[in-house]
Amino acid sequence: MAKQQVILTGDRPTGRLHIGHYVGSLRSRVELQNEGDYKQMFVFIADAQALTDNIDNPEKVRQNVIEVALDYLACGLDPKQVTLFIQSQIPELCELSFYFMDLVSVSRLQRNPTVKTEIQMRGFESSIPVGFFTYPISQAADITAFRATTVPAGEDQKPMIEQATEIVRRFNHIYGETLVEPQIKLPSNAACLRLPGTDGKAKMSKSLGNCIYLADTADEVQKKVMSMYTDPTHIHVSDPGHLEGNCVFTYLDAFCKAEHFERYLPDYPNLDELKAHYTRGGLGDMKVKRFLANILQEELEPIRNRRKEFEQDIPGVYAMLKAGCETARATASGVLDDVRRAMKINYFDDAALIAAQAERFASK
Ligand code: TRP
Repeated sequence: MAKQQVILTGDRPTGRLHIGHYVGSLRSRVELQNEGDYKQMFVFIADAQALTDNIDNPEKVRQNVIEVALDYLACGLDPKQVTLFIQSQIPELCELSFYFMDLVSVSRLQRNPTVKTEIQMRGFESSIPVGFFTYPISQAADITAFRATTVPAGEDQKPMIEQATEIVRRFNHIYGETLVEPQIKLPSNAACLRLPGTDGKAKMSKSLGNCIYLADTADEVQKKVMSMYTDPTHIHVSDPGHLEGNCVFTYLDAFCKAEHFERYLPDYPNLDELKAHYTRGGLGDMKVKRFLANILQEELEPIRNRRKEFEQDIPGVYAMLKAGCETARATASGVLDDVRRAMKINYFDDAALIAAQAERFASK
């Protein structure tokens, strides 16, 4: 049977990507790519969406487009298998967003929990930019303009996919089967849904300075791990430790595999035993942190090295993105032809329409 899946996902270029992005999404994208069970796969840089809350800082977005592209390539996304592109270069996405705006009510947007929190976080309550408020609509266009079936993303993107699904249903109901309902593909490991910051705060964020970046040097990674937040009541090695809110263990949940014990901590058969010892007391934080640091270094080193290689050929990276934009645009443009036809706003490619109108007026 022919492969059916169209996989699509993207990131806002507001900073370099960190290990939260990696376990939440990047790692599984590369796995999906390598499994090869898809008709098409798109990964894009959502620069226009990033501008919705960075409108006065275009330089930041511009700088981070190339950073994110390098992070993608470093993680192993391969432009031969996956179309990598930049959102703003696909004008069809604006057009589709404009049509979708009529299918969504203001109150529906106000209920979107992700937008709600983001409005609060940005202090937009009294003056919300319309573009920011409506970005779930534009995100629905990003997804449907490529007839994506599968959107690998974190839990925070769930409301966006629900919104997109509603728009597709409404569109197809009014205009006939045209667009495809997308499905979110969440990371399977719960620790990966939202990796906390190294300070134990709920989320990694640049402004909190609690991120481990994919491009961090080995020294930086080591320092960050060694100063991570653990359990403030675990003062002496003999004290019983707590796992709840202890981000060293959350990171182990996200990164640790059986083979890591063989390599770096052969005294323990698995993570459960390590946790049990920590909870009983008698296991020091430093030992656990060193173990985590070894695992992270092993995982991040090839990524860092590949990034360095691509950094040697920046014009090549832009050329690759340009080619990706052209490929993406060809797909979106085909879908938009179908959309216009369904919405009856195709006037010039419909000979039957012109003939019928001519006859109607002739017989008057
Ligand atoms: N909202 C996503 C983020 O903040 C980026 C994004 C834009 C996206 N359009 C998308 C993700 C479509 C998946 C599908 O990271």
